Amino acid sequence: MDHMLELRDICAYYGDKQVLFDVDLVIGKHRTLGLVGESGSGRSTLARVVTGLLKKSTGTVVFDGEVQGAKRSAEFYRRVQMVFQNPDASLNPKHRIGTILTDGMVIQGVSRADAMVRCRELITRMDLPEDTLERYPRSFSGGQKQRIALARALCTDPDFVILDEPTSALDVSVQRRMLDLIKEIREERGLTILFISHDLGVIRDICDDIAVLRHGVLQETGESAAFFASPKTDYGRELLKAVPRIEYE
Ligand SMILES: Nc1ncnc2c1ncn2[C@@H]1O[C@H](COP(=O)(O)OP(=O)(O)O)[C@@H](O)[C@H]1O
Ligand SMILES: [Mg+2]
Repeated sequence: MDHMLELRDICAYYGDKQVLFDVDLVIGKHRTLGLVGESGSGRSTLARVVTGLLKKSTGTVVFDGEVQGAKRSAEFYRRVQMVFQNPDASLNPKHRIGTILTDGMVIQGVSRADAMVRCRELITRMDLPEDTLERYPRSFSGGQKQRIALARALCTDPDFVILDEPTSALDVSVQRRMLDLIKEIREERGLTILFISHDLGVIRDICDDIAVLRHGVLQETGESAAFFASPKTDYGRELLKAVPRIEYE
């Protein structure tokens, strides 16, 4: 299988505290891998290691066949994008959406006018109001803000997107819509996705593969369908048992 991302022996630290222990993980091209675990298990930290935002780590990150050094290239940051759980923290309230969405492209040398045209297409694709680019973040609902955050991530035409609890702050009906949109966009653009969640129902719905993290240690990996049919580890079984039965009948 052709890998988009390969992690070898990843260890990570905050000060003296180690929070990831020898994590080995691969994500195939055009696959969606669900990274599950309890709060504090180290999922966001692993995402930070991938994107080069956490300096105190060891091990090897290989992206599309290239070993990554301490500093990622501009091309890496074009190809790899992230969406976080809380759009309020990632959308600057002082700026219009148009500015927020085009800043990344402008930094890369695209003219503001061209960037605006590209953003308008994305806004339409995300079923957002036509005047979205002229408005400020506060005038949107939580679900809309999360679709704006997704639009921003797609502006640079990435190959690999990390979604860190992208629907956890949303109501269930709004969550459904966001998940459907992610699935459509993934098909249209052939994206590879690292999908972080604690919600096994969501993971089962959207992921091809799964990786289970517990206290910074990877417990098991494999195809999602195989995991849900029969987890390999006691911890995997425990996680499944904690999910309301009804979702799996
Ligand atoms: N900025 C930070 N400084 C110190 N410790 C942190 C920081 N961020 C996370 N941690 C700790 O690292 C561990 C893993 O956290 P995190 O990666 O955020 O887990 P998850 O995303 O799975 O909830 C937790 O024990 C958390 O308290
Ligand atoms: Mg997290």
